[in-house]
Amino acid sequence: MKVSVHGCGYLGAVHAAAMARLGHDVVGIDVDAARVAALAEGRAPFFEPGLTALLAGTGGPGALRFSTDAADAAAAEVHFLCVGTPQSAGSGVADLQQLEAALAALRPHLRPGSVVVGKSTVPVGTAARLAAGLPDGVGLAWNPEFLREGHAVADTLHPDRLVYGVPDDGGEALVARLDAVYARLLADEVPRLVTDLATAELAKVAANAFLATKISFANAVAEVCEAAGGDAVALVGTMALDRRIGGDYLGVGLGFGGGCLPKDIRAFAARARELGVGDAVSFLDEVDAINDRCRDRAVELARAACGGSLADRRVAVLGAAFKPDSDDVRSSPALALARAVAAEGADVVVTDPQALALAQAAAPELGYAADVREAAAGADVVVLATEWDEYRALDPHALARVVRAPHLVDARNAVDRARWRAAGWDVRALGVAAVRAAPAQSSSPTA
Ligand code: UGA
Repeated sequence: MKVSVHGCGYLGAVHAAAMARLGHDVVGIDVDAARVAALAEGRAPFFEPGLTALLAGTGGPGALRFSTDAADAAAAEVHFLCVGTPQSAGSGVADLQQLEAALAALRPHLRPGSVVVGKSTVPVGTAARLAAGLPDGVGLAWNPEFLREGHAVADTLHPDRLVYGVPDDGGEALVARLDAVYARLLADEVPRLVTDLATAELAKVAANAFLATKISFANAVAEVCEAAGGDAVALVGTMALDRRIGGDYLGVGLGFGGGCLPKDIRAFAARARELGVGDAVSFLDEVDAINDRCRDRAVELARAACGGSLADRRVAVLGAAFKPDSDDVRSSPALALARAVAAEGADVVVTDPQALALAQAAAPELGYAADVREAAAGADVVVLATEWDEYRALDPHALARVVRAPHLVDARNAVDRARWRAAGWDVRALGVAAVRAAPAQSSSPTA
């Protein structure tokens, strides 16, 4: 099929390349000429494992082109909208300007019989509104994307599910068209769920809100463990074995960041308030607050490791990306932590295997180093803020030789604490250290 993909960021670039891999003839459209030029040369404009190979068309029979001109999408039978919907400045509401602009640019080139398929994360009600503005004979479906950065290629080619939101009127034709697009995935028995437009829009934000809630639940329990003297990592391990709960997204640590979870829970809450049901999701404000406190608690650990003050201390922060296997620093917990430590007068040096350039652009006030050894040289405390595999695998003996004092704050519970302690390190970790003064023991026998 002839397919166009509008927006070639973390979502669209992978989607375009994946559509070509599935055998379609694809054009990716983006307003960013530098990004289009890179993609046209087969270079991934950001770090995403497997994307370069996918762009190179390994094994893919489909054609793949990129352009800044929406007119180049005119021949497509299916037009995917993959642009970003960031948080509006000053409010939690989703900013739909990129979506409106992409559709406005595409609109004159839409031919009767073609379909527009939204993949961007949008406030419920957006799809019905956009559908009403399309030319006669052009249908609209909402097909939310659930890919994770760092796993985007596998998540696109082997998704857990496909969700098609379609209007009552003309729904069958839209389903048939999407089935043709995803024929190879359906042949692999990927579950396919057909819903109305509103349900499909909500399916995405509800999933992200649930994941954020799970993470904050683990981090809330971690706060209690810190006060009570428990070990949240061990505790979560007991929960994870309960098949009804599962262990995913129960990682105790610095919490969630990135371009999706933080803004999606705020946009979901904002939309619910607009709909008059704000109380139903007001707990998401608490999920957000727990997440923010993770950073404060990590700073507290670093301060304690330095004897009560961070002023004039050298702090090495390992990790700038919002998570491993990504160079994305949007709402990065690691960068927020580094900034907070610097605000207390510390000399902060950040390193990251992939995100240094974007981190430097986002937080030019911080110090940067190309690798762990350089970042940790002379450090009073090392903070592990993003759990890259290479940080998990660090040799504590070797690192102890370059730091000024062997203090580690493991803000992601990523290392083997016993191994580091055996190598002479003072290790503090979120959810496991007695960060706060222990309360007086209860004399009650019942706990
Ligand atoms: C998230 C969702 O997982 C995807 O399904 C969704 O498609 C995507 O948002 C989106 O809306 O586009 P992503 O933002 O790539 O994907 O990142 P995740 O892997 O979900 O991680 C989000 C954050 O949570 C990261 O900062 C990560 O470090 C943190 N996290 C994750 C924890 O703090 N603890 C955990 O146990 C798991």
